[in-house]
Amino acid sequence: MSCFDSCVGLIMKVKFFGIVAVACVAAAALAAQPPAPAGDGAEIAALKKELAQLKQSAYRPELGEQMLILQIRHARLWFAGEARNWNLATFQVQELQEALDAVVEYNPDDANFQPERLADVLPAMTRGPIADLRKAVDAKDKAAFEKAFDGLSAACTGCHRAAGNPLLVIQRPKTPLLDNLRVAPEK
Ligand code: HEC
Repeated sequence: MSCFDSCVGLIMKVKFFGIVAVACVAAAALAAQPPAPAGDGAEIAALKKELAQLKQSAYRPELGEQMLILQIRHARLWFAGEARNWNLATFQVQELQEALDAVVEYNPDDANFQPERLADVLPAMTRGPIADLRKAVDAKDKAAFEKAFDGLSAACTGCHRAAGNPLLVIQRPKTPLLDNLRVAPEK
């Protein structure tokens, strides 16, 4: 190795460690940074705007689509309760509640309910029946479960009537749509 080569090598090393040192100092300075001063308001506003645009373009399920999920949840709950699989029924009540919450989250101002808000109508109509279902399932009481289930179906149908769709009548299911999820309780 010539003197020239080793000198270049040395310079490169010094440069490299210099860059590392600068990066370390910069990282330490960033970590120690105080909270954003009020002057960053414009940047925050721009980020908020970008976030709102992202939300706008994000996938939003339509009400009719969400109803198909509710229909499946409603049926699954029935077969779990009929099989006296109370653990599965507890799970299905929770899933049904989450599906109802999702309707409120994504379609709070659905046109069918104007001037009222779906976000008010839906919880008011379903809160009672869901509470009755929870109680019946916790008590492992099949007769109470069936009664509460009919109460829920009536709430579903009641909301359809309120939305001007009285032809959408919800009833007890007779046949499982899918039978690959075992409903028989654990022995
Ligand atoms: C907030 C009121 C409301 C509640 C509560 C409600 N629905 Fe609906 N449902 C609607 C509206 C409005 C439509 C019509 C949707 C449309 O126009 O696409 C509908 C439509 C439906 C449909 C027809 C979907 C189709 O495309 O064939 C089914 C099935 C359904 N709902 C099931 C249920 C079940 C089951 C429940 C209760 C667990 C329920 N819904 C609770 C408002 C409601």
